[in-house]
Amino acid sequence: MDSLPDDNSRYKDVEYWDQRYVTERCYDWLGNFSKLQHILQTFVKREDSILVLGCGNSSLSVDMYRAGYRAITNIDYSSVCISAMSARHSDCPGMTWHQMDVRQLSFPNASFDVILEKATLDAIMVEEKSPWEVSPQTACFMHQTLTEVSRCLKPGGCFISITFAQPFFRKRLYSRTEYNWSIRHHSYGEGFEYFVYIMTQGEELSPEDAALEKKLLEDAEAPPVTTVAQTEDKEDFLSSIDL
Ligand SMILES: C[S@@+](CC[C@H](N)C(=O)[O-])C[C@H]1O[C@@H](n2cnc3c(N)ncnc32)[C@H](O)[C@@H]1O
Repeated sequence: MDSLPDDNSRYKDVEYWDQRYVTERCYDWLGNFSKLQHILQTFVKREDSILVLGCGNSSLSVDMYRAGYRAITNIDYSSVCISAMSARHSDCPGMTWHQMDVRQLSFPNASFDVILEKATLDAIMVEEKSPWEVSPQTACFMHQTLTEVSRCLKPGGCFISITFAQPFFRKRLYSRTEYNWSIRHHSYGEGFEYFVYIMTQGEELSPEDAALEKKLLEDAEAPPVTTVAQTEDKEDFLSSIDL
């Protein structure tokens, strides 16, 4: 595929996406609607107002529209994407397209029953060196986005996040009392396993997720651990991982 970037960090640049969407017509990250439909239909009702974050040129929104979901608002920060998609799907009343950054949503509080993202937050995390510890810059980006998502969800609404990130890593970002949601997850895919996280607004974190949040907050406040010189060449780090 000639739209692959030379360097993964380019997935964070709007210029990369603008350029890509000049020529690429349709590409679905992490599979298309048919792979997910059985999970989505459990959580999304036909009459729900839905916001899709970082829609790209994926067929997800139009496939959902054809399946009977009518109130679908799509955003992406690529103006090229938004002009192409709004022109292509002008025959779908009720479906709208807006150029917007996920960190600053220009919708009133409690606007949507469902906010959905597929691989958008993954694109934002591409430069992370370690899934164990997200850089302060990316943590801030995620926090701004999740705060906006939480603000725009109606009480009882759901944020649905579709990603290749496993629960151990992704729940570290989503488990925060201030977002005012519970978290559960499902998976799909053959060969590669992908994950669907469902955050329900107004529900409490499970005791396990609340304990994770507490531990992460304590770790962030703890002074840095002094490194002790290793006397043995022991690769026993796996046994220390608290899975
Ligand atoms: C990996 S693609 C996923 C596209 C689509 N959701 C799919 O499932 O195929 C990431 C998309 O997120 C958009 N994006 C990245 N950062 C964004 C931001 N800060 N605000 C809005 N859109 C963003 C990109 O333009 C791109 O269309």
